[in-house]
Amino acid sequence: MTTTSAGPHVHGLGEPYKRKEDARFIRGKGNYVDDIQLPGMLYADIVRSPYAHALIKSIDISKALQVPGVVAVITGKDLEAAGLAWMPTLSGDSEAVLAVDRVLYQMQEVAFVVAESRYAAADGAAAVEVDYDPLPVVVDPHKALAPDAPLLRPDKKDRQPTNQIYHWETGDRAATDAAFAEAEQNGVVVRQDMYVPRIHPAPIETCGCVADYNAATGKLTVWMTSQAPHAHRTLFAIVSGLPEHRIRVISPDVGGGFGNKVPIYPGYVCAVVAALKTGRPVKWIEDRTENLTSTGFARDYHIHAEIAADKEGTVKALRVYTLADHGAFDAAAQPTKFPAGLFHICTGSYDFKHAHVAVDAVHTNKAPGGIAYRCSFRVTEASYLIERMMDTLAREVGKDPAEIRLQNFIKPEAFPYRSALGWTYDSGNYERALRLAMEKIGYEELRREQAEKRARGELMGIGISSFTEIVGAGPGKHFDIAGIQMFDSCEIRVHPTGKVLARIGVQTQGQGHETTFAQIIAAELGISPDDVDVEHGDTDTAPYGLGTYASRSTPVGGAATAVAARKIRDKARKIAAYLLEVGEEDLEWEPGRFYVRGSPSKGKTIQEIAFAAYTNCPPYLEPGLEAVNYYDPPNLTYPFGSYICVVDIDRGTGEVHIRRFLAVDDCGTVINPMIVEGQIHGGLTQGLAPALYEQLAYDEDGNVLGSNFQDYLIPTAMETPRWETARTVTPSPHHPIGAKGVGESPTVGAPQAIANAVVDALAHVGVRHIDIPITPWKVWAILKEKGLAT
Ligand code: CDP
Repeated sequence: MTTTSAGPHVHGLGEPYKRKEDARFIRGKGNYVDDIQLPGMLYADIVRSPYAHALIKSIDISKALQVPGVVAVITGKDLEAAGLAWMPTLSGDSEAVLAVDRVLYQMQEVAFVVAESRYAAADGAAAVEVDYDPLPVVVDPHKALAPDAPLLRPDKKDRQPTNQIYHWETGDRAATDAAFAEAEQNGVVVRQDMYVPRIHPAPIETCGCVADYNAATGKLTVWMTSQAPHAHRTLFAIVSGLPEHRIRVISPDVGGGFGNKVPIYPGYVCAVVAALKTGRPVKWIEDRTENLTSTGFARDYHIHAEIAADKEGTVKALRVYTLADHGAFDAAAQPTKFPAGLFHICTGSYDFKHAHVAVDAVHTNKAPGGIAYRCSFRVTEASYLIERMMDTLAREVGKDPAEIRLQNFIKPEAFPYRSALGWTYDSGNYERALRLAMEKIGYEELRREQAEKRARGELMGIGISSFTEIVGAGPGKHFDIAGIQMFDSCEIRVHPTGKVLARIGVQTQGQGHETTFAQIIAAELGISPDDVDVEHGDTDTAPYGLGTYASRSTPVGGAATAVAARKIRDKARKIAAYLLEVGEEDLEWEPGRFYVRGSPSKGKTIQEIAFAAYTNCPPYLEPGLEAVNYYDPPNLTYPFGSYICVVDIDRGTGEVHIRRFLAVDDCGTVINPMIVEGQIHGGLTQGLAPALYEQLAYDEDGNVLGSNFQDYLIPTAMETPRWETARTVTPSPHHPIGAKGVGESPTVGAPQAIANAVVDALAHVGVRHIDIPITPWKVWAILKEKGLAT
């Protein structure tokens, strides 16, 4: 067939194409790990420590083994005998799979019970008798560093006798100190302590797995709620000694990850051990309390930040010291080379000449972990501190928070911009985003309204956050997880009839990759996304990838997909030239077809070319139409945004009401604006949560105070305001389609817009900072102290 038309409309980039995956989700046909049922499957439950710190004197499993239906009980000593009592964490620490002689946090795993039913497993777990000898507990990281603090990790012989995990610093200390000395004399210095509390990723689907070992083939299959199936397979191979090609990790539909499903948890390892021991498949699924109390947390950064500026408020230097609470084991997923990850972005959107950052990480008697999105490689903490500090500086020099930002932004012509901490921002136009936000929300009018209300004694605040994000790790030479370089991949097969199967190394947890990655291929090849199926999450079939977290899918996996599609197009051009009997250089491309330059009616569609690839391929080419790309990005991408929040404060209750929240985001080229909008709504809600509600708190004895959704507050539709959104587009110059990541931006940018708004409402009575979550109680106490409570 030849055609002179511009080809079919293919719903490529920039189109709000409906999510292909929703067809199964809205019909209830999603396939989550707890939906997996295998013949003869056993069920597991975990015996967990009630103490935050204790010696284990003895474990008696005899009564548990008598519980009807209980098949086996595994203890730390059993694992020790098999050399499996300890597993490596993503940060290179060693974590107890099951505690052998000491527990280090409440809810730590002590024994693993497998039974014919989940109920029998729970009864068996209740019948395990553990004799503990309680030890002094450390929950405050400052106290953990005290010389007389109990030593939590006597197993770490290399760093005795201290609870410190690492000291890390970056930047130019001497130049930064000199800039501060100068500002002390001739400018201004602002300082603020702030705590970014421990929160939990809190996905609706908790963690779990089904492990199945086939003794006849020697193959282990693990269905698990994994955000990084290939990395998990490699770690399983290293820990278990099983050959990697005989391990298959399948991550089926995942009900939210937010970083919670990047670490390997003891339950996964125990399920595998139990499957090997019993010869039967074993399912382990956490309940809500287990998920909130024992799996990877986010944040827990105690920050002291200082800005040196001139008298006009032009910033000169940033100095930050942070004490990071990593809990009992250092299991944060951070690149080996940067233990505080992308905390480097703390100079934000501003043109600092000098910066110095130091971080000390310590052990406490809390659960280990710490991972992206709700922790975002520490970007959230960095962005929060700089945006809070810019407001503090504005107050100090008597300027409006918008004015101080406009004055200090990195200018559009300065990109690519090298930050004081040595990172190269790819592209940005911060002033355009903030001005758009101010115009859309009616900033000047809001300031007038605020002044009038203040005169009447009403409390209204306006908060700004003009954040810069940093997403899309690699490059592989700088970034790794457990040593594995952070590239990503795509494999495309065009079948003879022109239909496409694409397999990608990243793994969706609800972000819509089956749609957006199909749209990238649609745009590159001129094939409708309906004709492109995207598969992921099965290590036996998908190409090796480092997983989905920290908004890396589009910057890395999306780039791999575009490059693989371009390889297909390159080969298609050769086949078209052969079929049309012209030189390759005589061909023009339009979506879906090549045609002869000057003779638009003489052409071949991509479907015709695909058919020829299998039926009439040029003799000098290999038959078939397939390509694979492993993409190692040359740089990260730097999405950004300007958010403005308007709050009213109830003087009677201290309650903060978010009246308006406008988010201007820039993630470069947008693949699917509807999906991006959804990502931003979800991310904003996850940014609202720590600002006003969420905190994983502990009492002095290490008891977790928020172990269910009644005590650990996540916002529902009732608390969530109507988000207003707008967009600017500043493409990434190094990404094949100019796209930057987006999912993480709103959760990084939102908390400080809300915090700044609340502080702004109270600034006239001298309030400079309130630690998040800004609860009604905290606000009411301030109102009372300032004589404003009614
Ligand atoms: O890594 P993760 O998928 O969580 O984050 P992301 O790369 O920010 O992508 C989230 C979703 O938004 C994916 O479906 C992306 O393809 C889509 N997206 C988009 O349509 N346009 C962009 N510029 C960035 C992301």
